[in-house]
Amino acid sequence: NDVDERTLAIVRALKGLEGPLLPILHEIQAEFGYVPQECLPVIARELNLSRAEVHGVVTFYHDYRDHPAGRHVLKLCRAEACQSMGGDDLAERVKALLGIDFHQTTLDGAVTLEPVYCLGLCSCAPAAMLDGAVHGRLDIDGAKDLIAEARR
Ligand code: FES
Repeated sequence: NDVDERTLAIVRALKGLEGPLLPILHEIQAEFGYVPQECLPVIARELNLSRAEVHGVVTFYHDYRDHPAGRHVLKLCRAEACQSMGGDDLAERVKALLGIDFHQTTLDGAVTLEPVYCLGLCSCAPAAMLDGAVHGRLDIDGAKDLIAEARR
């Protein structure tokens, strides 16, 4: 099928690399927007790994999604500088506001919430990124605005 063929093309293009699994998963997520379950056996077979090994890597690295993201992706910085500027509290409040945890998507499909570890905006902590646009010195009101923007 289509997913198998696209997966196979990616795996075959990258399997010659040293440590090909992460680059392959990266490409697969770029291709599909997430890592579909059905890719895993194809990858395992081509790289001579067990399915469990591939699955273990996918779940270990939080960068990989196992389901399609919502229409918008909101990433909250969880690294040190942002934590020290109230990032934990902000994260808890944003989760409560959205009614989801990290790695989940709101029921209306509007927002997927993800942690990120430093956006290079430490001097403007706490920082967040909505669909690739960074926002510094984010407080709960700013977060509410971003979420409203995503839901429009
Ligand atoms: Fe959050 Fe660097 S620690 S932007």
